[in-house]
Amino acid sequence: MDIIRVEGGHALAGSVCVSGAKNSALKLMAATLLAPGVTTLQNVPNISDVHVMGKVLKRMGATIEVADEHSLVIDTSNVDSWEAPYELVAKMRASTAVMGPLLGRFGRAKIAMPGGCNLGARKIDMHILGLEALGVKFDTDHGYIHADASEGLIGANVTLEFASVGATENLIMAAVRARGTTVIDNAAREPEIVDLANMLNSMGAKIVGAGTPVVQIEGVKELHPTTHRVIGDRIEAGTFIVAGALAAGEDGIEVRGFNSNHLGMVIKKFELMGIDIEHIEGGVRVRRAERILPVDIQTLPFPGFPTDMQAQAMVLSALADGSSVITENIFENRFMFASELVRMGADIRIESHHAMIHGVKGFSGAQVVSPDLRGGAALVVAGLVADGYTEVSAIHHIDRGYEHFVKKLEDLGACVQRATIPDPTDE
Ligand code: EPZ
Repeated sequence: MDIIRVEGGHALAGSVCVSGAKNSALKLMAATLLAPGVTTLQNVPNISDVHVMGKVLKRMGATIEVADEHSLVIDTSNVDSWEAPYELVAKMRASTAVMGPLLGRFGRAKIAMPGGCNLGARKIDMHILGLEALGVKFDTDHGYIHADASEGLIGANVTLEFASVGATENLIMAAVRARGTTVIDNAAREPEIVDLANMLNSMGAKIVGAGTPVVQIEGVKELHPTTHRVIGDRIEAGTFIVAGALAAGEDGIEVRGFNSNHLGMVIKKFELMGIDIEHIEGGVRVRRAERILPVDIQTLPFPGFPTDMQAQAMVLSALADGSSVITENIFENRFMFASELVRMGADIRIESHHAMIHGVKGFSGAQVVSPDLRGGAALVVAGLVADGYTEVSAIHHIDRGYEHFVKKLEDLGACVQRATIPDPTDE
């Protein structure tokens, strides 16, 4: 069983450069289906979710060459299938992001119904409702969703019930090839949506308003391949900012490779907690907090506090001088991380969507299990300042979204390593 073992108490120093954003790269890869030919994506993170999306595209007939670890040369000229198979969708829910592009290119899509995950039901009803407004007919059988727009996609006005990131993306990727204009109201505003719209526009799409609640897409007859650089991963950056706030030496650490405007609410909340964060060229410098102040946080769609930073914020709050409340409004079950942090000495009580966190003096190293991608990374970060050793298992979750996580922490001076230990559940 692979684990990450970290010894607490080592000060961090120097600079870390984050990788390209997972939650942009996956959708940009799907969007290449809209433009037959060779599209090059740069600054793509070398993570397992990207590998899975690559398998999805190759299964459809695309070819992908990896150049210099972070550039993907994707040729979708010979894509002749519109099916995202169960075994890949089950592995990665984000595979559903191919639905919009497949409808845009072929007028058809066959997608395995995404199962739930440990964050909750993860439905796609808003994707379906929005695409139905564009003329798509849906049918489901044997665990698959069959989407049919053989009579063509027609531009429409769609108001999303909730500012869903995935629904906004799928709608945009279908609407770029619809007849007429589509207006999405209550659209998600995440920076990854803007990144997607920028790439699609460089392919010949006509999208205005991405990053605002109202996105307008004028359908075009065809899209052409392009070259696009993925934005830096703001959530990976936020994870390292928490590491610096807890464990940096006297000079702090630099976190680079991302646009700090993409973490506005996170930086604002962390400054309220007494964390010293200075904007620098290409990122921020963060210094260790002498005293962490308690704070109340609500996770909300961008520009609100991102749910993907909830676990990391909980680590900070758990060491604050006072009591904090973190309310999770996006996912119905994203507090599993808290029970692992309690094993390290945190004092947290969960009541429905609220986590009541009473600061403690410190964590003690323990054996803990990653509940999901962000929780796993947050447990490693907590281990940086825990007394003794922390062993984090189920680290395949972390590998989904954090490229070279252990090496980046080691390069900052942490005492951390991947190790393989006998699986205690083996007979
Ligand atoms: C994206 O998921 C991200 N994943 C998530 O990051 C992120 O937490 C989330 O956006 C919110 O920012 C990727 O981009 C690959 P949503 P997505 O549609 O698109 C419900 C990570 O750690 N919902 O905004 O699935 C849904 O169940 C991951 O990198 C419906 O009910 O998020 C959830 O409770 C975790 N019906 C909430 O809305 C729908 O049709 C937010 O979902 C769609 C969503």
